[in-house]
Amino acid sequence: MKPSYSIDFSTTQYWLAPLAGWTDLPFRQTVKKFGADLTVSEMVSSNALVHNPKRTVKLFEKSPLEDPYAVQINGNSVDIVTKAVEILNGFDGIDSIDLNAGCPSPKIVRSGSGSALLQDLGLLQEILLTIKKRSNKSMTSVKIRLGFDKKIGVDVAKVCEDSGVDYLVVHGRTKTGGYTSEVDYRAIKEIKSALGIPVIANGDITSFEKAREVLDYTGCDGVMIGRGAMGKPWIFEQLKSGSSVTSPELKRDVIVEHFDNMIQFHGNYGVVMFRKHLHRYSKGYSKATNFRDTINSLEDAKEVRERIYHFFSQ
Ligand SMILES: Cc1cc2nc3c(=O)[nH]c(=O)nc-3n(C[C@H](O)[C@H](O)[C@H](O)COP(=O)(O)O)c2cc1C
Repeated sequence: MKPSYSIDFSTTQYWLAPLAGWTDLPFRQTVKKFGADLTVSEMVSSNALVHNPKRTVKLFEKSPLEDPYAVQINGNSVDIVTKAVEILNGFDGIDSIDLNAGCPSPKIVRSGSGSALLQDLGLLQEILLTIKKRSNKSMTSVKIRLGFDKKIGVDVAKVCEDSGVDYLVVHGRTKTGGYTSEVDYRAIKEIKSALGIPVIANGDITSFEKAREVLDYTGCDGVMIGRGAMGKPWIFEQLKSGSSVTSPELKRDVIVEHFDNMIQFHGNYGVVMFRKHLHRYSKGYSKATNFRDTINSLEDAKEVRERIYHFFSQ
C-alpha cells in the first residue's frame, strides 16, 4: 500500500512554484529556510529523463531540507511517461510526481505536452492515470491552467480529479493569457468548489495581503509563489507571518550562502548561472547597474563572492 499524505493539508500551504532555469537545488534550499512548505523541481522532460538520464537527474536532485518534495515532469506519450515514472521510482525522498499541464512555451506546446494537454483532455487523463498507477510515490499531482484559449477550468480539473490525482495546482490564466493577463481568481474559486481534493491557487501572489485575500476568496488550501520569490527567497516568512522586515545583514548572508551553494552544486559555471539571481537581488540597491555590469564581466568565484559581500553590506 502507498503511504498516506506527506503534505499536511490541515494547515494552509505556502509552496514554491516550479520555475525552469531558477528553482534548482541551491535556490530551493534557500527558500526552504524561510518556511516554504513544499518545493517542486524544475520541469523535467520525461523524454530527456528516459533518453539521457545522467544529465537529467541533476534537475531534480534534492536537498535534505526538502521534505516534502515534488518532481514535476512533462510528457505527451503514455509509453515515455511510464518509463520516466519507472526511473523516478528508483529515487527515494520524492513525495509527489507532478504533471505539467500548463507550460505555454512554443517548443513544449508543439511537442504536445505542457498546456497542449489542455486541448486533449483524453490524453491528459490517460497520462495521469498512468502516473497514478505506476508511481511508487505517495502522491500524484498536476499543475494546470484554466484552459488553452477558452476558460474550461472546471472541466479540466474534474478530469484530473477523476484520474485520481491527490491535489491540484491552478495557475489562474489560460495558455493564451501567457504570464501577464489578469489572473482569474473567480475561476480558481469555482474549481475549488467543484472538487473534493486539495487545490492550490497560483498567479501574481506577491504579498501577505494578497495571499490572504486569495485564500479567503477562493477557499483554496494554499498558495504557490513563483516570480514573487525570485530575488526574494525570504518572501515565505513574510507571507506566513505578515512581518515584512528582513534585515539587510540577513539578506546579505542569505545571498552569499546561496552563491556558495551554487558553486558547490554547479561548479565554477555557477558563477555565470548566479548572475540572474544577482540581478534580482540587487533591485532597489544604489549603484545596482554598476554592480551588475561588473558581475557580468567576472568569472572567478572568489572574486565574485567578495564583490557580493561588499555590495550587499552597503
Ligand atoms: C521563468 C519561469 C519558469 C517557469 N517554469 C515553470 C515550470 O518549469 N513548470 C511549471 O509548472 N511552471 C513554470 N512556470 C510558471 C510558474 O510556476 C507560475 O505558474 C507562474 O509564473 C505564475 O505564478 P507567479 O505569478 O507566482 O509567478 C514558470 C514561470 C516562469 C516565469
